[in-house]
Amino acid sequence: MKLVKHIANLGYGSRKDVQWLFREGRITNAAGEVLYADDPLDHDDVRIDGEPLDPPPGLLLMLHKPVGYTCSTKDRGRVVYDLLPPRYRLRSPALSSVGRLDRDTSGLLLLTDDGQLLHRIIAPKSKLPKVYLATLAEDLRGDEGAVFASGTLMLEGEKTPLLPAGLEVLGPRSARLTLHEGRYHQVRRMFAAVGNHVQALHRERIGGLPLGELAAGEWRSLDAAARALLFREDAA
Ligand code: URA
Repeated sequence: MKLVKHIANLGYGSRKDVQWLFREGRITNAAGEVLYADDPLDHDDVRIDGEPLDPPPGLLLMLHKPVGYTCSTKDRGRVVYDLLPPRYRLRSPALSSVGRLDRDTSGLLLLTDDGQLLHRIIAPKSKLPKVYLATLAEDLRGDEGAVFASGTLMLEGEKTPLLPAGLEVLGPRSARLTLHEGRYHQVRRMFAAVGNHVQALHRERIGGLPLGELAAGEWRSLDAAARALLFREDAA
């Protein structure tokens, strides 16, 4: 790929905008020598105004999504992309959220520009556990764990029953729920199916990857070790 296209794809501007950066001599190598639009691509050696380039394609980010943000790119309100560097919204291939969290749900959200990786995480057959903390409007009845574990619970409008899910009761109105699939508003609909209402929902973990110490609104890029944790076989 031409250097100019690579830089444009990273969100630094249109190809025309980037051509101007070249003309103005703002794109150099690490030694400070001016580069030209058709120079060979060596990502790590490029500087714009002396700064290294944003990471190349192949990003996997984890974000602590706060309540009040949507995962859509089109929503008029606050969107998760507002929490990332502005250029990240302009990248090609685009950075997409890996599944979605509702506006009112907080917690661990992954974003990637790697279509294969995205598929590997959300494909039904991957069955990566997703762990949620739910705060409920009503006291638990006591039979929810059995209902959710049954593998026969049918949500309204669905054609197949839910896969067995794990429930850990933490208090009269709080529980940790582990799902191995991701259907629309699944947690809220599951509790509605047992006569309750989710007041607050927070995703703690995907696969073996916990949200950890990341504060609401913070994000970080995942390295190979964190990616391995995500797919760890023994994460249940
Ligand atoms: N289930 C829900 O109901 N909402 C979410 O955001 C995620 C899972």
